[in-house]
Amino acid sequence: MITVITFSILFAGVLIIDQILYRLNKHILELRMNDIMLRIDEAHDILKDAGLANVQAYRDSARKELISKFIGYKFGKTGFIYIINEKGQALTGGNTSIIPYDNLKKISTEKSGFTEFKSLTNGKSKFSFFDTSKFQWKIFLIMDKKELYEQRNLYILAVSLIGILVLISGLGVSYLLAARFSRQTIEILNCVKNVAKNDLSSKINIQPITDEYGELQLGINSMIDELREREIEREKALEEFGKHQKFESLGILAGGIAHDFNNLLTAIRGNVQLAQMYKHDSEELKHCLSDTEHATVRAMDLTRQLLTFAKGGTPVKTTASIPELLQSTVTFILRGSKSKCEFAFAEKLRPVDIDTTQISQVIDNLVINANQSMPNGGIINIRAENAYINETSTLPLEKGEYIKITITDHGTGILKQNIPKIFDPFFTTKHSGTGLGLATSYAILKRHGGHISVESEVGIGSTFYVYLPASINAVKVKALLDSMSYAGGGRILVMDDQESIRALLGKMLALMNYEAEFANDGQKAVDIFAEAKKSGKPFDAVIMDLTVPGAMGGKEAVKVLREIDPDVIAFVTSGYSNDPVMAQYKEYGFKGRLDKPFKIQDLKNLLKSFLNNKTNES
Ligand SMILES: Nc1ncnc2c1ncn2[C@@H]1O[C@H](COP(=O)(O)OP(=O)(O)OP(=O)(O)O)[C@@H](O)[C@H]1O
Ligand SMILES: [Mg+2]
Repeated sequence: MITVITFSILFAGVLIIDQILYRLNKHILELRMNDIMLRIDEAHDILKDAGLANVQAYRDSARKELISKFIGYKFGKTGFIYIINEKGQALTGGNTSIIPYDNLKKISTEKSGFTEFKSLTNGKSKFSFFDTSKFQWKIFLIMDKKELYEQRNLYILAVSLIGILVLISGLGVSYLLAARFSRQTIEILNCVKNVAKNDLSSKINIQPITDEYGELQLGINSMIDELREREIEREKALEEFGKHQKFESLGILAGGIAHDFNNLLTAIRGNVQLAQMYKHDSEELKHCLSDTEHATVRAMDLTRQLLTFAKGGTPVKTTASIPELLQSTVTFILRGSKSKCEFAFAEKLRPVDIDTTQISQVIDNLVINANQSMPNGGIINIRAENAYINETSTLPLEKGEYIKITITDHGTGILKQNIPKIFDPFFTTKHSGTGLGLATSYAILKRHGGHISVESEVGIGSTFYVYLPASINAVKVKALLDSMSYAGGGRILVMDDQESIRALLGKMLALMNYEAEFANDGQKAVDIFAEAKKSGKPFDAVIMDLTVPGAMGGKEAVKVLREIDPDVIAFVTSGYSNDPVMAQYKEYGFKGRLDKPFKIQDLKNLLKSFLNNKTNES
């Protein structure tokens, strides 16, 4: 753009100068011609004054003298005087034959003026000025156009050279300026980009600080200083806040453990005291000792849960499919509740390498929380999709392929100030909550190389996001089932006061194609059993917990069941393997025993032997 403008100005300048020089030359030529005319006039006047103007002889001699004066009269290199008398004869130099006819015609009709013509002899351009003298001669000043324009051309050349020099230096200066400005702009841009990436160590260093760039540099540098100071302050504040939060979490943790252990210790101490008072071998003493043991086992349970949360429970991983795990876990948990689950699984979901028991525990905790947040029931949306985590992600996860599980409820939501605390152990807002659900889930996911996060709004609901690393292996669930080579089939009644055990047995039975029903104490089990028999859909077997605190346990319930159906296939299950009922289960009316903790193979073998036997017998 600058170049175009410069060239235009230069071109216009040359045209103007050309015109000025042309007119100047013309003027000089005119002056010289006037000078010649003046001399002729002078000669004429002298003759006239002497009264000799009409005397032919004098006239002729005066003419001759004039002509002699003009012969050899030179203008520059090529200019000369050319005179033609009234008869058309050339009186000085050359001859009229060099002037083309048209130009001659112009000379003869006009008094004075310029004409340009091409020499008829050598074809060169000539330039002439003419006038008619008082002697009736035609007087020409003829000059080569080339010479006339020579000076002008010299000027043009000089001006052009100056112009080109100005242009080149202009371009050079603008290039240097542009280079300097763009270098400064790039430096400023890089610095601003670093600041945007939170790198407050970079600064701009433009020298000298004279222009707007310098001002900008000073402004940005002082802004970086300010930001750095604020960052230091923020880090200090965060550190303080972190310490405070750790103390608070530790307080909640200690408070939670203290509260739960206190309750258990109260039960143990109270029962021990009572035991000392009861008679040896009395029924009350047995009860006290059994309650004491029960409380001790619960204390052990609590320690186990704490350990799962704190460090233990290294996942025993197998390759699993998330939709299958979600469906079997969730369907069981929500049985009998007012809430319903809606699933949405993305196509081509990758499998995951997980400890299925632990991940089921996570899903259990999340779905139970979601259900509890909707006391009147509602929809729980569960989605699973493949997700790629790259370096730009803010999640504390390694770059790579993941499975993202999203669990959304439309319940009470979580107060903003509680959100940072919900993963803390023992943080609970529920009357009978332990506050270990989310803390355990968090710990389990961390051990799986995954993550859990939450978004929630009070009155609208909560969404939990679970990330699990995708597996490169294919799912081997089918192979596991095949290895069990037991199709099962039939109806089983499960009685246990602990929801988690009911859930576990339910899932295991479902896997073996058994239809299960559940009761949380002995009385309920008896009712369901009797009702089923009456309606013609009796149970093939019953699995019952040995003791249920404050309600009828398996030991009592089996007696009633045998009254209803003497052939009832009842199994006793308990963690108290030393209990006399467990040791001599047959004497108490049970067909078999299932020691807690049990594996799916234990359950399979138990059912397989008894239910097959039953089929064979009938
Ligand atoms: N889906 C949810 N909606 C509303 N609040 C929730 C939800 N999930 C968790 N919370 C809040 O987080 C707290 C901690 O949850 P967490 O599962 O760890 O313990 P809990 O549910 O209180 O006790 P527990 O799991 O032993 O029954 C809950 O008490 C509740 O305040
Ligand atoms: Mg919970």
